[in-house]
Amino acid sequence: MIKLGVIFGGESVEHEVSIISAVQAMNKLDAEKYEVIPIYITKDREWYTGDSLKDIETYQDLDLLKRYCSNVVLYFKKGRYVLQSKGFFKRIVKDIDMVFPIVHGTNVEDGVLQGYLRSIGIPFVGSDVAASAVSQDKIFQKHIFANSGLPITNFIWFFDSEYNDDSNAIIKKIEKLKYPVIIKPATLGSSVGIAVANNRDELVKAIEDAIVYDNKILVEEVVENLMEVNISVLGNYQNMYLSEIEQVMTDNDLLTFEDKYIGNSKKVGTSSKGMASASRKIPADIDKKLREEVEDIASRAFKELNSSGVVRIDFLIDKKNKKVYINEINSCPGSLAFYLWEPIGKKYSELLDDMINTAIKDYKNRTNKIHSFESNILRGFSGSKGLKNTKLK
Ligand SMILES: Nc1ncnc2c1ncn2[C@@H]1O[C@H](COP(=O)(O)OP(=O)(O)O)[C@@H](O)[C@H]1O
Ligand SMILES: [Mg+2]
Repeated sequence: MIKLGVIFGGESVEHEVSIISAVQAMNKLDAEKYEVIPIYITKDREWYTGDSLKDIETYQDLDLLKRYCSNVVLYFKKGRYVLQSKGFFKRIVKDIDMVFPIVHGTNVEDGVLQGYLRSIGIPFVGSDVAASAVSQDKIFQKHIFANSGLPITNFIWFFDSEYNDDSNAIIKKIEKLKYPVIIKPATLGSSVGIAVANNRDELVKAIEDAIVYDNKILVEEVVENLMEVNISVLGNYQNMYLSEIEQVMTDNDLLTFEDKYIGNSKKVGTSSKGMASASRKIPADIDKKLREEVEDIASRAFKELNSSGVVRIDFLIDKKNKKVYINEINSCPGSLAFYLWEPIGKKYSELLDDMINTAIKDYKNRTNKIHSFESNILRGFSGSKGLKNTKLK
């Protein structure tokens, strides 16, 4: 039995979506193989554990949650990974063998949490630090995709301070692109702070809005005759599997936060289920050639970033010219994209098993490599004298 700590929540605009994804997954994990230990990070960065965190209703009253769950830290203690209670009397609440982060957005999905897990050495599911960080930054992705010859839209990017210092210069640079353009904060998700501009006035307004959210801003050309399709990739660089392709349907110009997470109330009803509730068509209505193109680009992007676990890669297609652009990669997609695997015969619980098995391989791959040396270079170091002749570079 693997003691599996499922980490979710965190200080992110996608906090609630993460709770939904995690509760869904915790209820699908095979109880014969895993002891599931929920680890919930509140918006103010406190970590809690307790069985009631497997139940979505627990999150309706945060005061009650805090009273009935244990406030803990995860750390390495004498060869064990433990959740230890905080406060004066410390006790070990749980042992953990492996962590399954089901987190969305900044501070958690973006390599920050993964970095902590790496630093204490615990095995974990999903992409490692670099792949997670790049996947959360739309500008890094553009550079890597462009460098790998993957098709992307024309773009420019800038820092908020560059705009504040000389907005005219930035606008001039942007206007080398063709209107309409779309303005995006580099590291947010869920369409937060994103807007389309058809002219300079709209551009200025959109930039000023986006700057509130991020210090790096991306501006790219809008894909006309837009069709959006997504595909999921499972595995790691050694073994990759491709899911069914979905077509995302929306009445609005943009797929907004509401489309994605609240769902189209007319069609979907009450509960929000992350990406699983946006209106979608599975399989996507595309011909064989486009499908193969999407599959090929997706596997190349996955490998280029050295992603792991399950990702969802989103594409923009110009229906008229049949031109495919890779838009972004999500290192921990909403609902873990399970609904793209079920149509090809992979049950959600099998998908979770595959992710965990991949994590075990990743961990072995990592621990097979040399990370430190026996010799201690500090042994010959004699206080401040040792530094005397070293020059600062
Ligand atoms: N270049 C583009 N052309 C047309 N529509 C776009 C473009 N980029 C994004 N969009 C629209 O905006 C939505 C959100 O943008 P996206 O880059 O996916 O950010 P998010 O991280 O918020 O999902 C997309 O799903 C798509 O509908
Ligand atoms: Mg998107």
